Amino acid sequence: MRLLVCGAAGFIGSTFVRLRLREHGDQITVLDKLTYAGRRETLQDVIGEIRFIHAPIEDAVAVAEAVAGCEAIVNFAAETHVDRSISGPEEFMVTNMQGTHTLLEAARERDLRYVQVSTDEVYGSIDDGSFTEDSHLEPSSPYSASKAGADLLVSSYQHTYGLHTSICRGSNNYGPYQYPEKMIPLMILNALARDQLPVYGDGRNVRNWLYVEDFGRAIGHVLSYGGPGEAYNCGGPDECENLAVVGRIVELTGADPSLVEHVTDRPGHDRRYSLSSEKLQKLGWRAQTRFEEGLAQTVDWYRENAWWWEPIRSGSYRDYYERHYGRALRA
Ligand code: NAD
Ligand code: DAU
Repeated sequence: MRLLVCGAAGFIGSTFVRLRLREHGDQITVLDKLTYAGRRETLQDVIGEIRFIHAPIEDAVAVAEAVAGCEAIVNFAAETHVDRSISGPEEFMVTNMQGTHTLLEAARERDLRYVQVSTDEVYGSIDDGSFTEDSHLEPSSPYSASKAGADLLVSSYQHTYGLHTSICRGSNNYGPYQYPEKMIPLMILNALARDQLPVYGDGRNVRNWLYVEDFGRAIGHVLSYGGPGEAYNCGGPDECENLAVVGRIVELTGADPSLVEHVTDRPGHDRRYSLSSEKLQKLGWRAQTRFEEGLAQTVDWYRENAWWWEPIRSGSYRDYYERHYGRALRA
């Protein structure tokens, strides 16, 4: 296919591009703003096989240039970190909602297939059982509210204009090339450096872990087989409490368990996420990587790819880390 993939200099989008080039031979244009979370280096191995445009998705002129000749838009572009949405929500509204609107307009003008990459966080927290696609949207953070707003806008373009849109809602991803503000890479890199491991609150929050290549293939499935106006949940095969995840990272890295520090909880911290993926499984998708195996592979990847993360750890990330964790970890 000829695809416009937005936000593919980030974690999941870059994985998707790699999979599509290798397994489908697609022609791909990437549009990315290259925020702190997006880096050309992340696409280094495939940069000669794609067209890359450096621009924000809310720039309608750049989007029009990028989308020329494409059959479909797959949108990964977003501000994605919940903690940053709590300390500074503005950018989340611009990129996640206004940017999605700009892409939908481009798709509408040309009658293109549109896939929105979304998140389990739009449903909010669930104590027991799992969310289905019919569950209410009850987002808790500015991040998840902006993603839920985008989902509603996407659905409205199908309902009002008949555009062939689909939404794929993933649970927590992990794997290579994830920016180390997120819990798993943060804990891996801190453990390798024998730094403290900051666990929010009591550490009993549960996440439904999904290996990034499994999510990439799920989005490909939705692109090929997703019905108009349909949303598809994509949950990982294993749920795990944060403390258990950090404990396993301590074992895999040989770090000292006393590095674990309980710090002030995230405001409004969702307790548990859980998705039923039955609808997507009926389209033929299955998660292939269990958490135990994927986590070990991910630790190995970070051990072997310091070229990718060292410039991040020594750049503006240090200021972010100090601002966000400094006082709590010194207390
Ligand atoms: P990421 O933060 O690693 O990457 C985001 C990418 O979007 C970066 O390349 C960044 O430069 C780009 N970007 C940001 N603002 C932009 C803008 N205005 N215009 C163009 N590009 C812009 O994110 P990720 O973890 O790869 O997430 C990708 C998508 O998947 C997001 O929509 C996110 O909500 C969703 N998602 C993430 C997870 C997860 O666990 N990480 C789970 C489910 C869904
Ligand atoms: O569920 C899907 C979502 O997963 C995506 O939509 C988001 O883009 C992605 O960032 C992720 O959100 P979370 O908030 O669940 O991920 P995060 O890695 O920030 O945190 C995972 C859990 O770990 C959460 O319960 C908070 C906790 N945590 C996180 C950090 C960064 C800690 O205990 N300490 C930390 O330092």
